[in-house]
Amino acid sequence: MTMTAPLPLSTELSRWLREAAWMRWPELKDRDVPWDVVPATRPEFGDYQCNAAMSAAKLLRRAPRDLAAELLAAAGSHPAVGHVDIAGPGFINLTLNTAWVELALDSLSADPRLGTPRPGEGQTIVMDYSSPNVAKPMHIGHIRSTVIGNALDRIHRFLGYRVIADNHLGDWGTQFGLLLLGFREFSNLTAYEAEPIEELERVYVLSYQRSQEDPAWLEAARAELVKLQQGDPAARALWRSFVDHSLREFDKIYQRLGVQFDLVRGESWYNDRLPGVIQRLLDLGLARESEGALIVDLSDEGLPPCIVRKRDGGYNYATTDIATVLARCEEFAPSSIIYVTDERQQLHFRQIFAIARRLGVQCELRHVWFGLMRLPEGTFSTRQGNVIKLERLLDEAEKRALEIVRANSPDLPEEQQRAIARAVGIGAVKYADLSQNPQSLVVFTWEKALAMDGNSAPYLQYACARIASVLDKYAERFPDRDWARAPIRLQEPIERELGVRLLQFAEAVLQAAAACRPNLLTDYLYNLSQVYSRFYQTVPFLRAPDGVRESRVRLSAGVAQALRTGLSLLGIETPSRI
Ligand code: ARG
Repeated sequence: MTMTAPLPLSTELSRWLREAAWMRWPELKDRDVPWDVVPATRPEFGDYQCNAAMSAAKLLRRAPRDLAAELLAAAGSHPAVGHVDIAGPGFINLTLNTAWVELALDSLSADPRLGTPRPGEGQTIVMDYSSPNVAKPMHIGHIRSTVIGNALDRIHRFLGYRVIADNHLGDWGTQFGLLLLGFREFSNLTAYEAEPIEELERVYVLSYQRSQEDPAWLEAARAELVKLQQGDPAARALWRSFVDHSLREFDKIYQRLGVQFDLVRGESWYNDRLPGVIQRLLDLGLARESEGALIVDLSDEGLPPCIVRKRDGGYNYATTDIATVLARCEEFAPSSIIYVTDERQQLHFRQIFAIARRLGVQCELRHVWFGLMRLPEGTFSTRQGNVIKLERLLDEAEKRALEIVRANSPDLPEEQQRAIARAVGIGAVKYADLSQNPQSLVVFTWEKALAMDGNSAPYLQYACARIASVLDKYAERFPDRDWARAPIRLQEPIERELGVRLLQFAEAVLQAAAACRPNLLTDYLYNLSQVYSRFYQTVPFLRAPDGVRESRVRLSAGVAQALRTGLSLLGIETPSRI
């Protein structure tokens, strides 16, 4: 038997049924029918299922079960499919041909990508994430944006896209007038060098209070802002120092989280382009005066109007984002731009996207938003978490992880224990965030994040380490045998289940990318390791007969590869021991 079907299997099987259906009923070609074949939700439904017959039957005014039967007859046999079933009102259940799965696994487990294609080759994606504001502490929304954005960044790169990760810093705006003025009056340079963000915040608060009581101060702050915008060297130099000092603090966090950007442009980078954007909107008749301000009416899109120039002539966040979309399209010709922020910016991006469309932007524009996360009492101040507190959260994670490592591996040298604790602690914090549907309210607890037996990073890291020790034991006991070339044999039901699961790695990665939901990948990894755990407890390994033993070891190595690769796509390390 030859392996004709390329992975991922769900794509291939969808194509198989869809093409058969279109051949048989050409009138369905341009109708909306969900031909997708997806992994079965329950084992009694086989390995894959397809629910297309119901909607196709409705369109053709046929009985769904008859239509399903006709469709399967028209499709004929597929080498990957051993057995088909029509269940209930017309569900199509497919059971894979075990011999085919074995062969597929043979070639898959020699591939470090586990059969994942590179559909992104030749395409560019701009990813806008993290994007904190200068002179202000990173709040929890920025942390989530950093962790989720970075996972989506890694996943898309893995799929072959050229990703431009841009940290769109909030480094421009009216607050800089008050900051520049206040800094000259109130700052403490020692404090500024030691804790720049805290000091800038303190200065800002004092300057703001003074502006409320003293009109002359407010006036002077406005003048500072104008100087900055007009490029006054002294104002620019001080502003630059605010940006650099803030970035230094942000970088500490990025380094601990293993996050890197291709660009750190910030809003200021677009400043000179803003008048041109306004001109373009005016020339195209898209903007008009309203009570002294300039607005874009978006009632056709059912959205409130977007102010693009304020009454005082100043530009705002929206103007900068319009300039940013245009500049990115021009410079990188991306197929899509993905923005990752908290839920409060949904309206903003709907407005920006609508205006971009009117300006002729054609690439996909996507806002990936997420909800709030509740953190343990006392970890973050009520005024929202600040940078120092985030560092404390990470410190705490590493401390707690160190206790786990010490208990599990008391024999390791202290330094190695600490390195592992770093990977486990940071991994736990990231995973706790990534494993949730981004759009739901997340409650963070240490118990869950660090659980050794639940849907957590340490659990998956531990599974990897355990498999590594199985491989070591094998090498010790059977030094002259080589498992890597032994054919995979799926004898036991649990063994077959594990094999089919392993084949689905690529599907999980592709789905997580398509939906921009890293939790689809964590769900897969968690499920894979659960199936593995049952497999490990049920079937003998080293005591199994020759050949069977090698097949099992090889399957284990494949699972470890999937877990390691999957976790690396989430920015989580896998130490060889825990
Ligand atoms: N700096 C903004 C904030 O803290 C987030 C920027 C998101 N990206 C963008 N292109 N608007 O809310």
